[in-house]
Amino acid sequence: MTSAPLSCQRDAFSLPHDLHYLNCAYMSPLPRVVEEAGVVGMVRKRNPASLFQEDFFTESQEARRLFAELVNVPDPDSVAIIPSVSYGVSVAARNTPLASGQNIVLLEEQFPGNVYAWLRLAKESGGEVRMVGPEDAAGSASRNGPASADAVGRGRRWNERILEAMDGNTGVVALAPVHWTDGTRFDLEAIAARAREVGAALVIDGTQAVGAIPFDIQAVRPDALIVASYKWLLGPYSIGAAYFGSRYQEGVPLEETWIGREGSQDFRALVDYQEHYQPGSQRFDVGERSNFILVPMLVEALRLLLEWTPRRIQEYAKDLSREILAEAEALGYQVEEEAFRVGHIFGFRTPKGMEMARLSEALRGEGVSASLRGSALRISPHVYNDQADVEALIKALKAAVG
Ligand SMILES: Cc1ncc(COP(=O)(O)O)c(C=O)c1O
Repeated sequence: MTSAPLSCQRDAFSLPHDLHYLNCAYMSPLPRVVEEAGVVGMVRKRNPASLFQEDFFTESQEARRLFAELVNVPDPDSVAIIPSVSYGVSVAARNTPLASGQNIVLLEEQFPGNVYAWLRLAKESGGEVRMVGPEDAAGSASRNGPASADAVGRGRRWNERILEAMDGNTGVVALAPVHWTDGTRFDLEAIAARAREVGAALVIDGTQAVGAIPFDIQAVRPDALIVASYKWLLGPYSIGAAYFGSRYQEGVPLEETWIGREGSQDFRALVDYQEHYQPGSQRFDVGERSNFILVPMLVEALRLLLEWTPRRIQEYAKDLSREILAEAEALGYQVEEEAFRVGHIFGFRTPKGMEMARLSEALRGEGVSASLRGSALRISPHVYNDQADVEALIKALKAAVG
């Protein structure tokens, strides 16, 4: 494996030539090899006799093994195949006891797939939900509020407030490595250490980070890491992977799948109903987890990521982001300080008084795809982006300023 910097990989994708796609945080384009694996998977079912019993197991095991390698999980069996983040979070919530008066720490404006299951748990247990933002109630910098100098140091304050929100009554901390709206970076190792100190479960939604930046389970030591595949894993929609550690491995799954039971490899003996599950976290797999289209696609996507490596992808994105952020700042847009941002997903707030509609129109005019959130513009580059995309974005930013 080479450690040389990545060059632009646009040829590995089929993006339209006139599109400046800076929106992987919304959805990644499908790499060609991933698309091909999906087509092969679909065609296979023309002849069901070409699908063998072992295929129900070997392909899923390969997906587990590759995801485990990507995030440095020692035992691939502790990886489950899930259909969505909300599914994985529901598995964790179902298996996290919460006593009345205990609290659950979440991020303010966290993605709802990592919120609703916790709201239910809190409601059913008489617990409290703490949604932690960068400011206290009296703070002047609001996420969607007018641009102000308070944006400076926002990431630092936000990280501090998360640590302060955890106490001896915290039962769960459920958050993400970066915020999905603007890429604010959270210091997971510090958060994990504090969660361990207070005995809280740590559940991480890695969807906006894993694949694009190194993630090491053995360094962070969370109880769960849940990742949808259709963004930074470069995979298809409706499949993902989740690590569930020892806190959860004896837990109750959402579905009692037949394939998740011990000995399910022997199709002749399936009605010898089994009390025990397959090893590790396989009990949490979604029903029909051996999806003959989606699993081979996920396998190809993970292979590609392991070849490119999250470290090189991050460096590539960082190089592109440097120029964008410098230009944006010079034009009056507000950006997060370097220590609390990443290269692959970042937001900046518009200069005071700028109409979002104006920025939206300017982006459209230059053929730039990005996401607008409140008063922030979210940019999320990947290895298919190049200097032409950066220039088109900068042109749009200038045009919007006037
Ligand atoms: C942080 C984050 N988590 C999860 C998801 C998707 O969740 P689900 O797989 O439950 O649809 C998104 C989609 O935008 C996201 O940004």
